[in-house]
Amino acid sequence: MTEAAPAPKDNMGQPEPRLDARLKVTGEVLYPSDVPLHNPAYAVLVTSPIAKGRIARLDLDAARRVPGVLDILTYENTTELKQVPYGGGGSGASTSMQKLGPEIHFAGQIVAMIVAESFEAAEEARFKTNIAYESEAAAPTFGAPGLTSSDAAKVSNPPKKMPQHGDVDAALQSADVTLEAEYGTPTQHHNPIELFTTSCEWKDGRLTIYEPSQFVYGLRNALAKAFDMSPDQVHVVSLYVGGAFGSKSQLTPRSALVALAAKRLNRPVKLVASRSQGFTVSTYRAETRHRIRLGATKDGKLVAYSHQGFELSSRPDNYSVSGVADSAHLYAFGTVKTGVEIVHADRNTPGFMRSPPVVPYIYALESAMDEMAVKLNMDPVEFRRINDTRVDPVSGKPYSSRSLMACYDQAADAFDWKARNPEVGSMRTGDWLVGLGCATAVYPTHMGPSTARIRLFPSGDVEVQTAAHDIGTGAYTVIGQTAAEQLGVPMTKIKVQLGDSDLPPAIVAGGSSTTASVCSAVYKGCSTIKEKLIRAAVRANDGPLAGRSPDEITLQAGMLRTRDGAEEKLAETFDRLGVGALEEYAEFIPPGLKPEDVQKLYSGQAKLVGGGEGEKLMYAMGAEFVEVHIHARTREIRVPRIVGAFAAGRLMNTRTARSQLMGGMIWGISSALHEATEIDPKRARYVNDNLADYMVPVNADIDALEVILVPEEDSFVNPVGAKGLGELANVGTAAAVVNAVYHATGQRLRQLPIRLEKLLV
Ligand code: MOS
Repeated sequence: MTEAAPAPKDNMGQPEPRLDARLKVTGEVLYPSDVPLHNPAYAVLVTSPIAKGRIARLDLDAARRVPGVLDILTYENTTELKQVPYGGGGSGASTSMQKLGPEIHFAGQIVAMIVAESFEAAEEARFKTNIAYESEAAAPTFGAPGLTSSDAAKVSNPPKKMPQHGDVDAALQSADVTLEAEYGTPTQHHNPIELFTTSCEWKDGRLTIYEPSQFVYGLRNALAKAFDMSPDQVHVVSLYVGGAFGSKSQLTPRSALVALAAKRLNRPVKLVASRSQGFTVSTYRAETRHRIRLGATKDGKLVAYSHQGFELSSRPDNYSVSGVADSAHLYAFGTVKTGVEIVHADRNTPGFMRSPPVVPYIYALESAMDEMAVKLNMDPVEFRRINDTRVDPVSGKPYSSRSLMACYDQAADAFDWKARNPEVGSMRTGDWLVGLGCATAVYPTHMGPSTARIRLFPSGDVEVQTAAHDIGTGAYTVIGQTAAEQLGVPMTKIKVQLGDSDLPPAIVAGGSSTTASVCSAVYKGCSTIKEKLIRAAVRANDGPLAGRSPDEITLQAGMLRTRDGAEEKLAETFDRLGVGALEEYAEFIPPGLKPEDVQKLYSGQAKLVGGGEGEKLMYAMGAEFVEVHIHARTREIRVPRIVGAFAAGRLMNTRTARSQLMGGMIWGISSALHEATEIDPKRARYVNDNLADYMVPVNADIDALEVILVPEEDSFVNPVGAKGLGELANVGTAAAVVNAVYHATGQRLRQLPIRLEKLLV
């Protein structure tokens, strides 16, 4: 065992190396745009430089005359495509992204797609397009004139929950200590290293699309609608995804355009949108503001939590994340009042981005919690302990399991929190001010319907087939491990197929739901196969296991065995059954959903449940501690140390779990200190839409980083007992950094990201 492959503790799986590790590090993996196609044509996108107005004149003559240009798609010649609002208003639907014009709703809207014999010819033609626009003043961000707003509780579909409990205003009136503060988070873009690509090919009326996707059934069915054809005439292949973070979970306009071009030319067409186009051809994390009020007794007992969120969206779309539905359950608040306002601006529609609801809302709440602890003159860890709860402060329902304080205690120990002098500005090393801060990480346990097909051969070889997705998280590996553990075979015997819409459907790779949902389906399928084998062996008239009780028998290393040493080879049991393979199709339907939700999954609709819904609250939790150094004169900010402890039910694989949690914390530091998409307030264009100017942490920004895996058992959540942790660790990190910066400097910065100039006073 190594640091990267931590030894499993209670209720944790082995740190199996990734099944796709070798392929990836040797560059053998074929990402969707790498799949070789015969004689492809190449597409490039033309996007709008204006944010609001319309196309006045579309002169493409010069572009069409470029040698090698085959076709140019615009709003004038693509009317056969049906407009497909994808997923409903609650899931990042992008009605503002559907049209090629003539109306322009945001800067970066696709207005044309050029297809040519070569990428170079298509690019040359792009420069020779001559498009005139009538431009209107755009309102791109908070405070701009001309914004409108709507109440997320009223306009969201499906409805958003805005938890309320008791009389917050009265509780604040009578509280010993109160806090009122406003917080803000900026626009962020996912920027997966793999760009947004689409390759399409038609054969005998059937479309095959190679596109990185977090939901191949969603993409298949949405594309089928765009072409008004049967979903089984569309085949989505997305075996590997080079990062997604939410940005590849839905149909975007490029896919149907590429498919249409391939159909018209009767030839494969490939598109790789540029890095800067990636900022507007998919979604992003919305800019948010938060107004928080907290009330507490003087011994630190919370009596009131009021949280009003404001989220920027596009003009037509009511997208919001409304993270109060999660934040409202976190502590024993006493009374709760929440609301969210959607602010409509001249922007593209935002969407899911890693831990969408909780990142901005928990940032605000966990900053406020630290401010309150300061007001109470109380240790922030103790403040959270006093307000820890086993039940939902809103409904009184119990948590299925909750290990928040175990996480705090283990992380605090490892961090040596007790060495902290709580006095602001009291700690120093050389020219550097030292600040230590902490915050809570929390993520709802989401599950969706999922299906899988399992095949076991007498040799012990296993095939697992499910249209789930490995977006870099280790899904291939943990899905394979589930089958290996259940069927008692080594990982070398396991073959896992994912990412293909011809396989049985699985839930969207979103909401950190894959492990809990897909592994549960695989677990069920394997259990059924195992039961069939055991039944055949014990019901036989002869043989070593005849007449034994099924409960006594385990399946290990290709043998059915009892503890007292009776055993039978798998091949013999197969002979009894008279079959050469056992195949099982299994469905996992989470509590609260019905078989019809599986049928909906087949038609591309993903429904997630969990978190604050259901009879118990289901949440993964963690605690993060951060040390910041701020140079006394230059105010340069460094983060030399970060420790996080996390509990998320069964951890299927300690290696992939640690890797996810480590990445999450680094992304959290990124949110605190680096990341923000800047927008030109006048032209409403993204300014830093490239990887040189869009700041993210690099190796030199991250020094000591420790991940502590806290054992937790939860038999309630699902058959495998896993809560999912892909999006857990970047929640709360930014607040921990902000809280540490306060401890170092006495400056309370409430608007992310914190940059050096904000500390120059
Ligand atoms: Mo994640 S933002 O739920 O893909």
